[in-house]
Amino acid sequence: MIYLTSDTHREIDIHKINPDEFLEGLKMNRDDYLIICGDFGCIWDGDSGDRFWLNWLESLPWTTLFIDGNHENFDVLNSYPEEEWHGGRVHRIRTNIFHLMRGEVFTIKDQTFFTFGGAYSHDRIYRKEHETWWKDEIPTKKECAHALETLDKYHWKVDYVLTHDVFLSHPLSAKYETDIQAYGAQYQDIHEFLNQIEQKLEYTAWFHGHYHTDQLYRTPQGKPILCLYDRVVSLKEILPELGVK
Ligand SMILES: [Fe+2]
Repeated sequence: MIYLTSDTHREIDIHKINPDEFLEGLKMNRDDYLIICGDFGCIWDGDSGDRFWLNWLESLPWTTLFIDGNHENFDVLNSYPEEEWHGGRVHRIRTNIFHLMRGEVFTIKDQTFFTFGGAYSHDRIYRKEHETWWKDEIPTKKECAHALETLDKYHWKVDYVLTHDVFLSHPLSAKYETDIQAYGAQYQDIHEFLNQIEQKLEYTAWFHGHYHTDQLYRTPQGKPILCLYDRVVSLKEILPELGVK
């Protein structure tokens, strides 16, 4: 079983994956996966708060996978051990909690997932660098180059795409004002980069978060792009809704 959601934001929105609400979770085991499309939020203080939430998540019957959003502490996240997992690079957080790094392709239950976390914080000016905001919320040029290399290896064809933010031609990308100048020369505009990917990549469906809404958008080519927030969806069961056979 593979389930998808987004934006758990630690105690704020994590109730949606609490088995009290997410009853399907009780039928899952460590070979079943719950994927969070960013703003995981449980790597935040690098201390007792993280320990509490990670202990709780580790006690749940499934394996939790997440890509990074913009509300993660990247200093702490990057200090976790890196390893190879299902064909791509991860940070191993706990025995059943893994951060799927940017620009990787993972093969999970015979399906391929291209992962590329990160997003612009629209409330950046109210936050403090290395305390509540990190430039690493958007990708470096090096991470983008790595993603292109990975996709070359997969001949630009995967089953699913998992991101936190969206590509430039997606209407939601214009929801908040963004400013690449605030980051530095080594960083790349994530909207433009994901646009480049979307134009070239063959994929069945794209899942993302960040915009705190559950809504389906279709590209002019008819590709389904599903924004997740409150919903925790089964990959298998959502495909007919997306018009995917
Ligand atoms: Fe969020």
